[in-house]
Amino acid sequence: MDTQLLGNTARAMVAAGKGLLAADESAGTCKKRFDSVGVESTEENRRAYREMLFATPKLSDYVSGVILFDETLRQSTKDGVNFAKYLEANGIIPGIKVDAGAHDMALHPGEKATEGLDKLAARMQEYFAMGARFAKWRAVITIGKGIPTRACLDANAHALARYSAICQEASIVPIVEPEVLLDGDHSVETSEEVHLRTLETLFHELATQDVLLEHVILKASMVVSGNRNPRQAGVKEVAERTVRVLKRTVPAALPGVVFLSGGQGDQDATAHLDAMNRMGGLPWPLTFSYSRALQQMALNTWRGKAANVREAQAALAHRARMNSLAARGQWSAEAEKKAA
Ligand code: 13P
Repeated sequence: MDTQLLGNTARAMVAAGKGLLAADESAGTCKKRFDSVGVESTEENRRAYREMLFATPKLSDYVSGVILFDETLRQSTKDGVNFAKYLEANGIIPGIKVDAGAHDMALHPGEKATEGLDKLAARMQEYFAMGARFAKWRAVITIGKGIPTRACLDANAHALARYSAICQEASIVPIVEPEVLLDGDHSVETSEEVHLRTLETLFHELATQDVLLEHVILKASMVVSGNRNPRQAGVKEVAERTVRVLKRTVPAALPGVVFLSGGQGDQDATAHLDAMNRMGGLPWPLTFSYSRALQQMALNTWRGKAANVREAQAALAHRARMNSLAARGQWSAEAEKKAA
């Protein structure tokens, strides 16, 4: 375990004004996204799409690292440069999603447990050799009648902690992602309470497994209202509730916290991040690790056509720049308009 490398990687991931581009959609998720714009999800189309994203001019001004899917880590640019090497040469750290997905949890209807620990240590060594310097594991917590259960929170936190230990031993920085889904009719108060229990459980397990907190990045969901609840919390309320939960549960030793967008609108995800950073006085940098809230416009513009690549890249660069401003607490609706 190279703790110096772990420290350098973690700090670079959350460097001031920078965040992560999550481009680790599994083949299944990629198909869903491509279906929405009428593009067939072939291996070559997925490769071409990722090349479009990664070749975006000035991406590294705003993006410190990209989370890749296994297939993408093994792919190359059309000129034959392996994507991990390509990103690294452009000042962007390659990362890898290593979990095997969230699956129905036995004896717990409506809940999921994430799989993928089997033989993970050997896979991690291969990923390191291929250039990955950080990894991601996503747990899914669903809010509903009587859920999440204690069993679900414990099982998912335990897997996240075991994964983190395996990452660190391979000198790869673990991103721990316990995503509390925003789907449902629950209130923002319920979301806050579930986030609190989820994060308490996670940090208890990380301590139990002797994970080095100085070398872990938390990827958190924000405390928002359920998407089918008639009362939608505003930007200020979301920021205040999210920061309150983080302060109560996340040790100051962590190098940083990044957020997923989870189905929020592009600008909502930016506005929430900005509002949290404007609050100030936080022990960790807060930044973005968005997939949909960074890629949606670019995907809609690209539509599988080489002729649209430049315009699609401009759409990604724009969202990345807006979120970079938000990571510094310097975003505004005016900045959004001026740039549009
Ligand atoms: P979204 O930002 O689209 O939620 O994706 C982030 C991610 O990595 C989910 O695991």
